[in-house]
Amino acid sequence: NQPKNHILVIFGASGDLTYRKLVPAVFDLFDQGLLPEKFAILGLGRTDLGDTAFRDKMKEGIKQFALNKPDSEEKLNSYLEKLHYFSFDTKDPDEYCLLKGKLRELDEAYETEGNFIYYLATPPSMYEIIPAQLDEQGLSDESTGFKRLIVEKPFGYDLKTAQKLNKSLLTNFKEEQIYRIDHYLGKETVQNLLVTRFSNGIFEPLWNRNYIHHVEITGAENIGVGNRGGYYEGSGAMRDMIQNHLLLLVGLVAMEPPALIDSTNIRNEIAKVFHSLRPIQEKEVAQYAIRGQYIASNIKGKQVKGYREEEGVATDSRTETFAAIKLFIDNWRWADVPFYIRSGKMLPTRVTEIVIHFKATPHHLFADDESICKNYNQLVIRIQPDEGVLMKFGMKVPGAGFKVQNVNMDFHYSDLSETYLPSAYERLLLDCMLGDSTLYHRGDAVEAAWKFVDPILNAWKNDNSIPVHGYPAGTWGPDVSDDLIEQDDITWRYPC
Ligand code: BG6
Repeated sequence: NQPKNHILVIFGASGDLTYRKLVPAVFDLFDQGLLPEKFAILGLGRTDLGDTAFRDKMKEGIKQFALNKPDSEEKLNSYLEKLHYFSFDTKDPDEYCLLKGKLRELDEAYETEGNFIYYLATPPSMYEIIPAQLDEQGLSDESTGFKRLIVEKPFGYDLKTAQKLNKSLLTNFKEEQIYRIDHYLGKETVQNLLVTRFSNGIFEPLWNRNYIHHVEITGAENIGVGNRGGYYEGSGAMRDMIQNHLLLLVGLVAMEPPALIDSTNIRNEIAKVFHSLRPIQEKEVAQYAIRGQYIASNIKGKQVKGYREEEGVATDSRTETFAAIKLFIDNWRWADVPFYIRSGKMLPTRVTEIVIHFKATPHHLFADDESICKNYNQLVIRIQPDEGVLMKFGMKVPGAGFKVQNVNMDFHYSDLSETYLPSAYERLLLDCMLGDSTLYHRGDAVEAAWKFVDPILNAWKNDNSIPVHGYPAGTWGPDVSDDLIEQDDITWRYPC
């Protein structure tokens, strides 16, 4: 299944995303022969670059970030020849007719029959302006060729702005033309959640409130905000990771089996989960959510800055770099099963994992230690790194008596020597080229996710009595996040 000939038009092409992710990911597709015969990239930006300077810069990006390192200069050059750059001011409506002319020229040269994908890799302040101007120029019209629009996160700042953005996009493009990207959906291990759940007879019968005690989802990073302090100040862990990536994981863990594996059915089921999230009222926020901020510390002899000392961050900032929530999904399958989710920067390690904690046996025959017994059956789905699936269960300690110990059955993707794990952008860009939006967010689901996090964000903004707990960089977040979960006599898993 090869995509049709087309042009990928990248707005914000002089930025980091294009350099580190997009152009290298498209190179990986090229390297595997997955691009159509006639294909071009048109990079757009205000920086005054010509084709040659753009190609030179992208060459570096490919060498550094492509998964398939170019095996010859010749191959690399034949890819780079497809790259073009056009410098124009995206804010100036008068310049869009110049863009139209440039597109017409490339369209003829490459015989792409009016098929264009527009990628918005710009600051979000441009998300309404660019599509409106494209529409104004007739560049959203599909009477000749497809026109698809990829929108990067953040998709809105809260429910109101997300609704406004959706409304605005829908006046210029149809929902089927809009691809809201969340790179987590492009991860192989995230997609594997569907296969683990729905292709194995042993898990699905147990996948409900009768057998599952609670679910834990962690998205931990061991780096700080780096040079993104300016962006992160207005975002925080809740907007940066939880509203999108972590809630998506909740959706995939909790959804009902879709009628078919296709865009409509899978996205319907994810949206249903979001609609079933039990609302947390502003006055209850302190009970269900914890926020924290990393403070300076010494990690293995190395002094590490606190968040407030980072570049672009206010010295009295109250932006959370750690957030944890206890949530419930009020539906038939999950009633009263707590989901604990947490995400943070500057934690001890980088790991994203989902842990399904199964209920203990009704009667403890063997263990003298009840708490060990409770932890026997866990299914750990490791999204990254060391992608894989781990099942924990109780086994007899050899020798006299009936002592039980916890052992692992462990699968690592790396054990499959033949397996190539495509990058998230590679997979998602290819899907968009093929017109498959299954792994992209739908507008209604995005709004439902905002609806859930909005009251938490409002309480954090308006109620100064809700503390922002400091946690030393390199630790697992504020100690109080343990209270959130330990109230129930269980603890977070601390993966190493
Ligand atoms: C991005 C966030 O969406 O996801 C970053 O903006 C975060 O702050 C990143 O570091 C994490 O992605 P991954 O794929 O490394 O888990």
